[in-house]
Amino acid sequence: MIQEPFKPAARVAGQKQDVWTIVNEAAAASPIQPIVNMGQGFYGYNPPAFVLDAAKQALEKVDCNQYSPTKGRPRLKKAIAAAYSPFFGREIDPEKEVTITTGANEGMLSAFMAFLEAGDEVILFEPFFDQYISNIEMPGGKVVYVPLHPPKDGATKTTSASEWTLDMSELEKAVTDKTRMIVLNSPHNPIGKVFSKQELQAISDICVKHNILILSDEVYDRLYYVPFTRIATLSPEVARLTLTVGSGGKNFYCTGWRVGWLIGPEHLIKYVSAAHTRICYSSVSPLQEATAIGFEKADEEGFWEESKRAMKGKMDRFNQVWDELGLPYSDPEGGYFVLANLSKVQLPADYPFPAHVASRPRDFKLSWFLIKELGVAAIPPTEFFTDANAHIVEDWLRFAVCKNDEVLEDAKERLRGLRKYIRE
Ligand SMILES: Cc1ncc(COP(=O)(O)O)c(C=O)c1O
Repeated sequence: MIQEPFKPAARVAGQKQDVWTIVNEAAAASPIQPIVNMGQGFYGYNPPAFVLDAAKQALEKVDCNQYSPTKGRPRLKKAIAAAYSPFFGREIDPEKEVTITTGANEGMLSAFMAFLEAGDEVILFEPFFDQYISNIEMPGGKVVYVPLHPPKDGATKTTSASEWTLDMSELEKAVTDKTRMIVLNSPHNPIGKVFSKQELQAISDICVKHNILILSDEVYDRLYYVPFTRIATLSPEVARLTLTVGSGGKNFYCTGWRVGWLIGPEHLIKYVSAAHTRICYSSVSPLQEATAIGFEKADEEGFWEESKRAMKGKMDRFNQVWDELGLPYSDPEGGYFVLANLSKVQLPADYPFPAHVASRPRDFKLSWFLIKELGVAAIPPTEFFTDANAHIVEDWLRFAVCKNDEVLEDAKERLRGLRKYIRE
């Protein structure tokens, strides 16, 4: 007889309480309500009307309420191929080179499931989007970390996200004969770095030399404020190795829709689709239809330009508060997250942090303090680092600016309350 019927599998046992739970629970319990939640990267407003209307209309169509083909609705694959062919400089085949997934996240899980055998290594840059880890470990992959180095004077002055740098010799040293894949994220969460063409060239040279598959997470691909290069476009040799990941949720302000996709050569996409079929068979149908219509109409609506302009406006509007307070931040080149450096904020020595926060690095305490005392929630970024390197960001907090302007103004007003805790 089984002795411990409720014992969880190792892949879910022993996980620390995740940062989203800690921050969301603290936010719900804060004495200051409603809280201004700039923690998790969800939008504080709706998709544009042409996308929302498309979703409502899709719900009226019989076939949209039934299973989609496992590789995705033909209309969406076609719309994505049409939208991305100009960026890739070649005709993308919608039937063979695009596959639709349940958000970018399940798309990446499918890619790891498709190519990793137990013990295969995957290189990740620190900081990393936390979901990569379990997605790699579930099929038995081993994560190998290579750090992005922070700006040297990031604690004393505002720097650019471009100043977070990758040491290419460290990257090459991390390659072993077990290295199967590398994950790249540009524009980057949480740093907001957009990898330059030169950096991508150097990374891809290593991948081509060692035949390493590149999983390029480009979910923030419509939000860049400096020139943006897609690694798959560097050369046919790189394209051969690259899967590019996209997210309808990030593109059209609807992270709850869970529509994502991968674009890549047929010899890679067919196995990603095979894994996706086994994981969840197919993805939510009516919202695929709406995402397709979103892509079809986005250009004529001027949506992409407007989306970028609006987000950059929000970023600049919010960051004024750091300039006012004299607190440095890492100015993002893309995406909707900003890292602010709070090393000058002195937390009261006798502040009663609960045990699960007291035992974590200083950024968890800063996050807790801001939630309880000011009513603003932000994410402690040590969660995106291994324990060994967490110290790099323990004075920083990550704020998501994808919120209404009034919410950003409210957050700024609350954050002015930090003034009395700032020591030069
Ligand atoms: C870097 C990065 N990749 C992937 C995702 C997940 O995207 P999706 O919501 O489409 O699964 C996120 C969401 O926060 C992200 O920040």
